[in-house]
Amino acid sequence: MSSNQSRAMKLADYQAPGFSVSDIYLEFDLQDEQTRVTAISQVQRVDSAIRDLELDGKKLILEGLWINGTQTEVSLTEQGIRLTEVPDQFELRIETLIDPVNNHALEGLYKSGGAFCTQCEAQGFRRITYFLDRPDVMARYRVKVIADKQDCPYLLANGNLIDSGDAEQGRHWALWEDPFPKPCYLFALVAGDFDKLEDQFTTHSGRQVELQLFVDKGNVSRGQHALDSLKKAMAWDEQKYGLEYDLDIYMIVAVDFFNMGAMENKGLNIFNSKYVLADAASATDQDYFNIESVIAHEYFHNWTGNRVTCRDWFQLSLKEGLTVFRDQQFSADMASAAIVRINQVRVMREHQFAEDSGPMAHPIRPAEVMEMNNFYSVTVYDKGAEVIRMLHTLLGEQGFRKGMDCYISRHDGQAVTCDDFVQAMEDANQRDLSLFRGWYSQSGTPVISVDCEWDESTQQLRLDLTQKTPPTADQAEKQPLHIPVAIEVVPVSGQGEGRSEVLSLTGQQQRFTFENISAEPAVALLTGFSAPVKVDYQSTPGHQLAVILYASDPVARWDACQQLVSDAIFTIAQNDARTVPDFPIELFAGLLEQAQTEPALIAEMLELPSFETLAQQRDRIDVDALLGARKQLKTLLAEKFSAQWQRLFIQLSNPQYDYQQQQVERRRLSGVCLSYLACTEASLDILRQAYKHSDNMTDTLAVLKACQAENLPLFDELMQDFEQRWHDDPLVMDKWFALHAGRQHPGCLSTLQLLMSHGRYSINNPNRVRSVMGTFAFYNTEGFHRRDGSGYRFLTDYLLELDAVNPQVAARLITPMIQYAKLDENRQQKIRLQLLRLFEHKSLSRDLYEKVQKAL
Ligand code: TRP
Ligand code: ZN
Repeated sequence: MSSNQSRAMKLADYQAPGFSVSDIYLEFDLQDEQTRVTAISQVQRVDSAIRDLELDGKKLILEGLWINGTQTEVSLTEQGIRLTEVPDQFELRIETLIDPVNNHALEGLYKSGGAFCTQCEAQGFRRITYFLDRPDVMARYRVKVIADKQDCPYLLANGNLIDSGDAEQGRHWALWEDPFPKPCYLFALVAGDFDKLEDQFTTHSGRQVELQLFVDKGNVSRGQHALDSLKKAMAWDEQKYGLEYDLDIYMIVAVDFFNMGAMENKGLNIFNSKYVLADAASATDQDYFNIESVIAHEYFHNWTGNRVTCRDWFQLSLKEGLTVFRDQQFSADMASAAIVRINQVRVMREHQFAEDSGPMAHPIRPAEVMEMNNFYSVTVYDKGAEVIRMLHTLLGEQGFRKGMDCYISRHDGQAVTCDDFVQAMEDANQRDLSLFRGWYSQSGTPVISVDCEWDESTQQLRLDLTQKTPPTADQAEKQPLHIPVAIEVVPVSGQGEGRSEVLSLTGQQQRFTFENISAEPAVALLTGFSAPVKVDYQSTPGHQLAVILYASDPVARWDACQQLVSDAIFTIAQNDARTVPDFPIELFAGLLEQAQTEPALIAEMLELPSFETLAQQRDRIDVDALLGARKQLKTLLAEKFSAQWQRLFIQLSNPQYDYQQQQVERRRLSGVCLSYLACTEASLDILRQAYKHSDNMTDTLAVLKACQAENLPLFDELMQDFEQRWHDDPLVMDKWFALHAGRQHPGCLSTLQLLMSHGRYSINNPNRVRSVMGTFAFYNTEGFHRRDGSGYRFLTDYLLELDAVNPQVAARLITPMIQYAKLDENRQQKIRLQLLRLFEHKSLSRDLYEKVQKAL
């Protein structure tokens, strides 16, 4: 790591660009190892004080540069090149050479399988040509793509196709034009051979849009769900927000090599094939759900991200938080709102709370960034969406819509800030949101402590709420925030009316009084997870049970259940695994009886809280005791109710697979039953039969997961069969790799070694890397946290290798190893040893350097 690379950029240092680019013409002569890029930009000076033009560039070979037709010398800078004393207005022509085939970082122009494709967000365009690689420079693009006709029958770029033709030596070309000015991070190009699915969508105002989905040859039958999802998303955005699509064509290309989920390039989305391809045999219900939500997410970006974009990368949550919120609303409308919400709460508690309490803690609008790729985080995305949701709660459905209308109409075609967004919400609703703005600049998870008292004689319920945000790695001082605390009060007896309300907590401490509460109340706090906070409230098992039984909010019911079970697990862990409290047993008896009435919700309630969720509730964790206690409770519940699990499982069988809500819910519950059944003796036959008779990936995977979690010998047998059936299918093989990598057993490190020498493994493919090393580091708790530190060493060895290939993916995989503050001293020390190894490595990427340095 050289010192110049390790400097952080600060939001406070933002300066508007000295030059603008109104139009750019790009020409790509595509060749595997030597692609020639010609860029002709119309440049204007906008700040007369700035004399030199500095352009960003990375891994480029400069072939020549001309200003108004005159070849010009340039000087090199840390970031790219400098042109001194340029005219006020000129044409800039730059020719560069790039090497797509050897680009394994998957940023800029690269090859995925046989196809050329690009990824420019956040700062990948500088790997294509020298440019002002920042989102507040918006230009109109014309793009000519030239490639071999046989290898690349399809030549795609943003916008509309305006011309095409043949060229010499078996090559051909296409010319595309995007009428909407855009930042360079939204530029895209694809050239390759695909199968194509086509459809149409007629917009609200009657314009016809061509929809085209490009997939690897032979995958047509797996593309329909993605295309259907796109049409649903387009209709939903018109109906919910009055937002219409604006070009005549919308293209989606699925590729196997991709660092993230998908990318919203204008008119030409590029997707990880994992979020496109699905059929019953190869994809799970969860895959179907994810596809619908990611397709929608990228589509929604067309307005929240593309038409209105970010001024600078510190504002990333402006587009991501808002677009995640929009895709969450969409998913809630398409499927079961309660289940969708419960899973978002899980993401917040398992991953975002962990980030906020670790060395990478940052506000949803970070103030300092070393490597931008490190800030595509659960905080910016998911906590960002929670902040938008709180605005929605505070302003109401209509007020929020008014704010959105104001935001879009005021800023269409501009690059703006999070403040501009909040300002639009304020102006449209005449509301003062100054205290609320703190959510954008303050990191950390607020803790709300609750003191609650009901007075029978006065029939008053008094709630004293106190908020406190613990200091974080990036910020010592914290201010009180504006927190919407939704609550529900239900009578403990179940007799009589309940009451729901949203309390506005604005001070450090505040008292709320409720009159006419005639019967003893149980209070559910933070119903619907109304704010991204932790609640510290000592409720009793009796009150929790009342909430589970009588509350109207399903999230509150699930939450009370999780709390009750968590408390039991902590009790077992503390008592050294001797006594198990009775209340989870009573609870499960009740749930199992009712299971058929609301299968989806009860499935979520029967699922024990994950290790990470448990860990987030404690300041210090004893890994072994916690794992042991969770395991013990699971086995106990499995055995105690073995007859019920079995009966329920049989009742839940479905006719032929269909991705349809009622079936999805039954399969979910049936999977939970299997996971308990696998802990009991005499389950082998059931598991074997379930595997044999499954006609879909959801049920098949449920069997494999259940066997894996319980380390049954049957696991290896079924996995061999599974591999034989699917070895040629990359997406299914990712599942196979993940199942092996997640298995907690003493020999798991040698398993990992074997997996990585498997013929289908490749360090160059992020999906494969994530399914093996990602699953290990994030979910194989026992293996990763081995007492002797060998799990940490294993990950570190791998990161050193991966960092040289794909730093972006390496930096994601290190996450579980930098969030170590709650672990025991022995493990902390072993982790620090490994972090030091990374720190002292000579050519560590900026991505890993930023995280390692903060963690140490
Ligand atoms: N903007 C993308 C989204 O929809 C995120 C993304 C895709 C991305 N590819 C990336 C971010 C590569 C950084 C690097 O959320
Ligand atoms: Zn996004």
